[in-house]
Amino acid sequence: MTADPETRIRELRDQIERANRMYYQLDAPEISDAEYDALMRELLELEEAHPELQSPDSPSQRVGAPPLPQFSPHTHLTPMLSLDNAFGPDELRAFDARVRRALGLQGDQSVAYMGELKIDGLAISLTYEEGVLTTAATRGDGRTGENVTPNAKTIRAIPLRLEGAVPSPLEVRGEVYMLHPEFARVNREREENGEAPFANPRNAAAGSMRQLDSKVTASRKLGFWAYGIGRPEITGVSTQSELLQWLSRLGFPINPHARLLNGIEECVEFTEHWRTAREELPFDADGLVFKVNSLALQAELGSTARGPRWAIAFKFPAAEEQTVILDVTWQVGRTGVLTPVAELQPVSVGGVTVSRATLHNEGEIERKGLQIGDRVSVRRAGEVIPEVVAVVERSPESRPIVPPTHCPACGSMVEKSEEEAARRCVNFACPAQTLERIRHFASRDAMDIVGLGDKIVALLVEKGFITDAADLYVLHERQKELEQVEGLGELSVAKLLAAIEDSRTRPLERVLFALGIRHVGASAARNLAQRFGSFERLMEADEQELLGTEDVGPATATEVMEFFRRDENVRLVRRLLEHLKPEGPSQAQGSLFEGQTFVFTGTLQHMSREEAEALVRSMGGRAASSVSSKTDFVVAGEKAGSKLDRARELGVPVLTEDEFLSRLKDLGEGQSAGPAETLF
Ligand code: IVH
Repeated sequence: MTADPETRIRELRDQIERANRMYYQLDAPEISDAEYDALMRELLELEEAHPELQSPDSPSQRVGAPPLPQFSPHTHLTPMLSLDNAFGPDELRAFDARVRRALGLQGDQSVAYMGELKIDGLAISLTYEEGVLTTAATRGDGRTGENVTPNAKTIRAIPLRLEGAVPSPLEVRGEVYMLHPEFARVNREREENGEAPFANPRNAAAGSMRQLDSKVTASRKLGFWAYGIGRPEITGVSTQSELLQWLSRLGFPINPHARLLNGIEECVEFTEHWRTAREELPFDADGLVFKVNSLALQAELGSTARGPRWAIAFKFPAAEEQTVILDVTWQVGRTGVLTPVAELQPVSVGGVTVSRATLHNEGEIERKGLQIGDRVSVRRAGEVIPEVVAVVERSPESRPIVPPTHCPACGSMVEKSEEEAARRCVNFACPAQTLERIRHFASRDAMDIVGLGDKIVALLVEKGFITDAADLYVLHERQKELEQVEGLGELSVAKLLAAIEDSRTRPLERVLFALGIRHVGASAARNLAQRFGSFERLMEADEQELLGTEDVGPATATEVMEFFRRDENVRLVRRLLEHLKPEGPSQAQGSLFEGQTFVFTGTLQHMSREEAEALVRSMGGRAASSVSSKTDFVVAGEKAGSKLDRARELGVPVLTEDEFLSRLKDLGEGQSAGPAETLF
């Protein structure tokens, strides 16, 4: 019944790559993320069990490789040139005049151009040999870039193997970029972990590609759009527009907004359309690129040392203006970290008035050499919060930005830790922290209390209705009073109270995340909830037990212990538990395997591996895909491979499938009507 491993591996690779194409190229996903993950897991396990069937173009490469000590240089077969810029319609017309003059065209003869969005990301060159991706490199100085192959392989939009007959070697050029929602998610996560956020999606994409640890790249969702190749003449096509089609047929995602334009006036219209339309794009585009469509004419025009004569980059009028830093204030975050914010003389940037801009952190202030009173350039890129780009002019009155020694919100002493390079207010009762903590508690990924947005939280704190998250659950006792508050009213109060009521049964992992313990993001919260099953057990856990949890390292373990060491936190949790009924997996169902991690390998006889894993999870245990010192048991089915060896190496107990089942049964008999009984 089961296919032989080689056939199954081929099937899985095809299915995964098809899913990637449907998602990234055609924007029409056919399978869910969970189904994708299941296929990938099966593939990883089969390849691990059959190392001889591993291959550099397998989608399993997309999960990341061991970290590199450094990047190696890669010399491009064809140099990656850059483009001349045009900053307005007249400069665009001048470009067209140069093109027509060089081609000896008459006044009424127009040139056809391909107009494409200029994606604001990181340019990369992908080399395919006999259709297989062998190297991915950054542009570097145009001749030699950095070899970032393991990172590029984690990008699902980049094909690892091309179908059909393809010229070899083939260098495909394009842009790696990050969508705005992913940019926001990555920055949220970084702030959660006390790391400096990326200033914009381009930096986030570039930073993710220039990671020595490709697992970090794999954890970020990056996109890729192809827009050219090293030597177009090897394709047999005759225009840029056909070249894009050709790339698309090979499996590369092509930006759907490219248009064939006849003559430079159509190009000018195209710029007018995108000047405002780009605001709606879910990614950053900093301009448009116009390319002479005919490849024969491109060849005739040739290149200078700087760039091709047949293309130009049109830069959108900079969403960048100049203004003055009037002052710097320090915002207090949920965990007490102080973030500098520039108070600016209001200025309109790309149609939006900007009066504040984040300065990110002290390091950023130093790097940019900013002072209060400086004339600076300010940028707003896409949906990104405005940022100060650089000093334009120093005024004689300019004075250094001095970080505060006391918290601006509560006046407590501020501490600066060596390793974090951040200052923080250590007063737990600081009103600014309180506000941020409750906002976080109610937010969508935490308790998801619909209607309890930032403004309402601020209002409730200001009016003294709440001083911590637990107060939310007694708010209903003051319904009448609430209805009297300006800006609330009967209906909104009723809705708010219903939403709070609804949040009482959020699962343990969400409550844990909602507490806002430093370093405990959504994923660590999930793993901690899985392993400990209840607050009681988590609060009793020692460092070793915490460290035995997947994804929990020393920094997180310390923060969790530190959190529960504080009386005010323990009191808060106890008060919350008077009202909440967190539905953790191991509380709601069995707890036979609570805190235990299982790894299944080989073929099982009585159930599929997915079923076995689900069973473990339903009993409060964890099912992992690889064996480590944190694994409690390996269950080996038939034809178990390298995982079994690894288990033996590490001294992890190995069970046969029958042993696993009888263990389940024996343990189950100790409980009354537990899930094990319903199963057997
Ligand atoms: S064509 C020789 N097309 O903009 C032609 N470039 O200097 C080279 N870019 O960093 C580039 N979108 O990575 C081209 N549709 C597009 C582009 C694009 C973004 C980037 C490119 C390079 C810069 C051009």
